[in-house]
Amino acid sequence: MAALLASTHHPAPDADVLGRNIVILQDVLVSFDGFKALQIGHFAVERNELRVVIGPNGAGKTTLCDVISGKTRVTSGRVYFDGFDITRVPDVEIARRGVGRKFQTPTVFDSLTVYENMQLALPGRRNVLQNLMGGETDAERHTIYAILDRVNLIPELATPAKYLSHGQRQWLEISMLMVADPKLLLIDEPAAGLTDKETELTAELLLELKGKHTIIVIEHDMDFVRRLNSRVTVLNEGRVLADGSMEQVQANLEVIEAYLGR
Ligand SMILES: Nc1ncnc2c1ncn2[C@@H]1O[C@H](COP(=O)(O)OP(=O)(O)O)[C@@H](O)[C@H]1O
Ligand SMILES: [Mg+2]
Repeated sequence: MAALLASTHHPAPDADVLGRNIVILQDVLVSFDGFKALQIGHFAVERNELRVVIGPNGAGKTTLCDVISGKTRVTSGRVYFDGFDITRVPDVEIARRGVGRKFQTPTVFDSLTVYENMQLALPGRRNVLQNLMGGETDAERHTIYAILDRVNLIPELATPAKYLSHGQRQWLEISMLMVADPKLLLIDEPAAGLTDKETELTAELLLELKGKHTIIVIEHDMDFVRRLNSRVTVLNEGRVLADGSMEQVQANLEVIEAYLGR
């Protein structure tokens, strides 16, 4: 089935499909020196959806994020974001149009405090200096405090990020994404290296964002995925193996064989 999909040629999405879905991949192939890291006939995420992408190591999950954010160019096929073909749009421009990303390893500024990192993440700022000079409005300050309160980082407001625990860094980065408020949040393995308790809070956070933001979460931890209770896409060897509710994909024999059964 997946092979069939990958070889089928899909027509350009019509206005209705483009309007409903914030992200669409059509006949996408990503090949690294002949190695097919991603082969996707059709993949679409609706506005305000929380989509979980799972799959074993090397399945192509991070490559999928790289393609959407423009970090990696497709070898062939088309990528659409927010109604437009972004296949050849530079990554900086894609970010400007509203794709926000959280990488597998947190990319906060180590020497800056928690609050300063949040200032930097505020949307619509021209440069770093303007943000650090404290140009934020009362409303923005209020938003920063509200988000940091939710992830228990208020006591660490003035702490340089390098002194935070791994879990606190993950939350700071998710908080930075939240304050930046992009149209699409790409979150790669947020539970990696977290304790059970920290994982629980991270899942709660994503559930709170659900319905208000469009989010694609890549995750490995099955308990975490179950808790998110959302539509799941299973990738394996660069292809979409299954798509549906957690119950549906868990009952899929190919999925069990490739991933869940291990
Ligand atoms: N820049 C690259 N050059 C060559 N191979 C790559 C590159 N990026 C990813 N790959 C390969 O593509 C496959 C998918 O990788 P990735 O998307 O990182 O998987 P996942 O995130 O699901 O673990 C892997 O086999 C990986 O080695
Ligand atoms: Mg990965």
